[in-house]
Amino acid sequence: MKKFLAIILSALMIFSLAACGETETTTEAQGDTTGAPESEEAAEQITVQAGKLIMATNATFPPYEYTEDGTTIIGIDAEIAGIIAEELGLELEIQDMEFGSIITAVQTGKVDIGLAGMTVTEERLQNVNFTESYAKGVQVVIIPEGSEIKTIDDLAGKKIGVQESTTGHIYCEEDFGAENVVAYSNGTQAVQALISGKVDCVVIDNNPANEFVKANEGLTILDTAYADEDYAAAVSKDNTALLDAINEILKAKIADGTIQQIIEKYIPA
Ligand code: ARG
Repeated sequence: MKKFLAIILSALMIFSLAACGETETTTEAQGDTTGAPESEEAAEQITVQAGKLIMATNATFPPYEYTEDGTTIIGIDAEIAGIIAEELGLELEIQDMEFGSIITAVQTGKVDIGLAGMTVTEERLQNVNFTESYAKGVQVVIIPEGSEIKTIDDLAGKKIGVQESTTGHIYCEEDFGAENVVAYSNGTQAVQALISGKVDCVVIDNNPANEFVKANEGLTILDTAYADEDYAAAVSKDNTALLDAINEILKAKIADGTIQQIIEKYIPA
C-alpha cells in the first residue's frame, strides 16, 4: 500500500514539474517579444527557399557579373549578393538567365532578387520594387576607331547594336527608331557584330564597354555619354520584408565603405 502511494505521489510530482516547465517556457516566449534577441530558428522565412538567397542575373556583363571558367559567376554583383546572403544567414545561389527574363523571375517568385547591373526605371518599377541604389551606370557608345560617329546626334540613321531588353535597347528604339536597332542576346555578341561591320556602333553600359574595348583592338568609346543611370537590386512587390532587410544591409555596407571597396576591386579608379 505504501509503495502504491509513493508511485502516485511521484507521478503527481512529475506532472506538476512538467506543468512548471510549460509555464516557464511560456514566460520566456513572452519575454522574447519584449526585445530579447530572436533565435535563428524563430526567424521568419522571407525567401523563396528556406536557407537560400536565390539571385537571378545575366553573367555576360563584366565587371558586374561574368564568368572566367564558364561555371563560377564572379563580379561586383556576385560579391554584393554574397554579403547580403551572409548577413541574412542564407546560402547564395546564382541563376544565370537572359537579361530580359530576370524581372519576370523576380515577379513570379522563382527567385528572390534580380542583381544584374540593372537600372532603376519607371517602367520596371511597375513590376518590381528596387532596393537602394548601390552603383551608377552610364550608357555609352562604342565605335570603331576613326568612325564618322562623333556625337550622339550622329547615331541617327546608323545601325545600332544593343543587348536585348536593356535600357540601351529601349532608349535607342525610342530615340532612333526600332528599324535602326539590332538587339543581341549579350554585349559580347553586339560587339562582335560591330567588329564584323554588321552594326555601326554599340550602345551599352560604360563598365562593360570599357572591358569590351580593352579586349578588342580598334574600338573606342564616344566621349559624350548617352544616359546616366542608377543600379539597384529588384525584389518582388509581394516581399517587402526582404526588401527592407536588404536595404538595411545595403545602407550599412554603403556607409562603412564595403560596397565602394568591392567596386574598386573590379574597377580600379
Ligand atoms: N543597365 C542596363 C539595364 O538595366 C543593362 C544591364 C545589363 N545587365 C546584364 N547583367 N547583362 O538595362
